[in-house]
Amino acid sequence: MATVVSVAIQKGGSGKTTTALNLAAALHRQGKTVLLVDLDPQANLTQSLGYGEPQGITMYQLLRDEGAGQDTDYTRALIGIREGFDLLPAALELAMSEVELVSIFGRERLLSRILAPALPKYDFVFIDCPPAVGMLTVNALAMSQLVLMPLQAEFLPLKGVKSFHDFTLARVKKQLNPDIDLLGIVLTRYDERKTMNREVLQQLEAAYPGKVFDTRIRTNIALAKAQELGTDIFTHDDRSKGAEDYRRLAAELIDRMKKTKK
Ligand SMILES: Nc1ncnc2c1ncn2[C@@H]1O[C@H](COP(=O)(O)OP(=O)(O)OP(=O)(O)O)[C@@H](O)[C@H]1O
Ligand SMILES: [Mg+2]
Repeated sequence: MATVVSVAIQKGGSGKTTTALNLAAALHRQGKTVLLVDLDPQANLTQSLGYGEPQGITMYQLLRDEGAGQDTDYTRALIGIREGFDLLPAALELAMSEVELVSIFGRERLLSRILAPALPKYDFVFIDCPPAVGMLTVNALAMSQLVLMPLQAEFLPLKGVKSFHDFTLARVKKQLNPDIDLLGIVLTRYDERKTMNREVLQQLEAAYPGKVFDTRIRTNIALAKAQELGTDIFTHDDRSKGAEDYRRLAAELIDRMKKTKK
């Protein structure tokens, strides 16, 4: 049965998509089966896997049909990237879901219902969330056991983390999904030579003890390049710092999951 992980925080450009993609790719290389779900209308994850213009069905139609009370077959939208490494793509039209789903009965659990038949088939499902807390993110959180928050250490991000953790997550846990837990916070585009980066790390560790990943994702242009080329970091440059960091993050994730027993 899959462990469902939402990669989420309302702050834009914090490394969510890069982390969802490359962490999933790292776990796949370690023999895990992974489903990536692009739940962001920006469709960066879909583009980053080389499907800039998805021709077929995307998350938008699945959510719309599920919302209309139809039986939705998620495999209609499924793109097989590699054996055991699949993508449910997004396109810009997904932005309409935020509005269209508001008045639907059971609106927070549409994604959960769509993906229920997929869960026995994968070890992991990673959901790449948009940088906002709307219907899409709430649907992702409602069905996740774990949340991973990537964060760029450049700016003082504590306020954003606090509002996401103390408000959004706490409410989801209380009202929708008591099983959800914060897996951890991972710092991205980290440069330990920068005082600000070290300060952010210290503050986060003080505010969320035990929740900050030991692995930090360093700034590495190969990560951006891989996305531009429509592939993951390991396929693009297996020996880059980015590949090394995401490999290490995958190992730490497995370790942390053993500790939280998920
Ligand atoms: N460690 C890194 N080193 C260099 N560039 C990075 C790194 N991580 C991410 N980037 C680049 O920074 C940009 C933002 O990253 P990403 O798209 O993963 O953030 P995001 O949180 O998903 O953004 P959004 O909130 O818009 O969805 C991308 O162009 C990506 O290639
Ligand atoms: Mg993104």
